[in-house]
Amino acid sequence: MLQTVVKQCQALPSNTKILIFGAGFSGQHIANVSRQLGAKVLCSRRELNKPGADFIFDSTKKQLPDNEVFKGVTHILSCIPPDENGRDPVIEQLNSVLQKMPIKWIGYLSTTGVYGDSKGNWVSEKNTPNPKQPRSQRRLECEQQWISTGLPVQILRLPGIYGPGRSALETIIKGKYKLVDKPGQIFSRIHIDDIAGAIMHLISLSEQGTKPNVINISDDLPTSNIDVLRYAASLMKINLPCVEPFEKASKHMSPMALSFWQENRRVSNQYLCQNLKYSLIHPDYKSGLQECFSHLKK
Ligand SMILES: NC(=O)c1ccc[n+]([C@@H]2O[C@H](COP(=O)([O-])OP(=O)(O)OC[C@H]3O[C@@H](n4cnc5c(N)ncnc54)[C@H](OP(=O)(O)O)[C@@H]3O)[C@@H](O)[C@H]2O)c1
Repeated sequence: MLQTVVKQCQALPSNTKILIFGAGFSGQHIANVSRQLGAKVLCSRRELNKPGADFIFDSTKKQLPDNEVFKGVTHILSCIPPDENGRDPVIEQLNSVLQKMPIKWIGYLSTTGVYGDSKGNWVSEKNTPNPKQPRSQRRLECEQQWISTGLPVQILRLPGIYGPGRSALETIIKGKYKLVDKPGQIFSRIHIDDIAGAIMHLISLSEQGTKPNVINISDDLPTSNIDVLRYAASLMKINLPCVEPFEKASKHMSPMALSFWQENRRVSNQYLCQNLKYSLIHPDYKSGLQECFSHLKK
């Protein structure tokens, strides 16, 4: 919930102006939190008539922001995935502009897919990335492109993102799901309140000179999808269908869906929560889904 995040964050310095490239699901929530904390925020989408769009940025059509957009910018967040060649859309089009700006902080939303398959073991920022999926290889290339700009960038690695409007509750309501049983398979996840909260915490730490290059933002409890769906169903008082073994269910999965089941890792948040002292708003899926459910009831 917006106010819960805002309450636990420090106000941003009064001259803060944040550009958010790719203000989709996560970007819009982070924009709303940042505005409540006193920042001026401008968000890009590929079309001006999409919710929350302040300006257009579309790397494919080479639609770039006006100079005015960049005036006074102190912070940048990119939520845009890699292009099909593994190039980062923002760096490809705007690196020369960014290089001339006095930017204090840049956040790049990446994925924990860059760690590859750890066979269910914990992975932390100390693990060398070992992406197996082509999309995760492209993502690692983009991380490296950001780092090699020399700009003050933090790479924020995220597992499955959920929040109001995009959670197991909607998955069940839409009816397009199966209870797939693959023993030992777990997934990590993060609620958008904690993406926003952690980013505000990291911006505040960077003001004090603490600015690690790579941070995982994930909750405390990697869990099977079945447990998450069952809990979501219990909140809505809905009965779920029978469990289907992975061997059977996988025959009807898209290549994309299948690729998620080929990797099994527990993403550690120890660095963020213990070393950098971020306090999670939703430490597990139960807390996060309860919050999503409160929006559904409205
Ligand atoms: N979803 C997950 O579970 C997950 C997990 C880990 C990491 N991530 C990554 O974290 C980031 C944020 O995730 P999200 O789910 O909040 O993303 P999202 O809602 O899909 O938003 C992505 C944004 O990127 C913009 N975009 C895409 N291609 C672009 C291009 N060529 N030029 C300009 N803008 C472009 C989109 O523009 P429009 O608004 O016009 O569509 C949208 O605003 C993404 O990079 C995503 O890949 C996602």
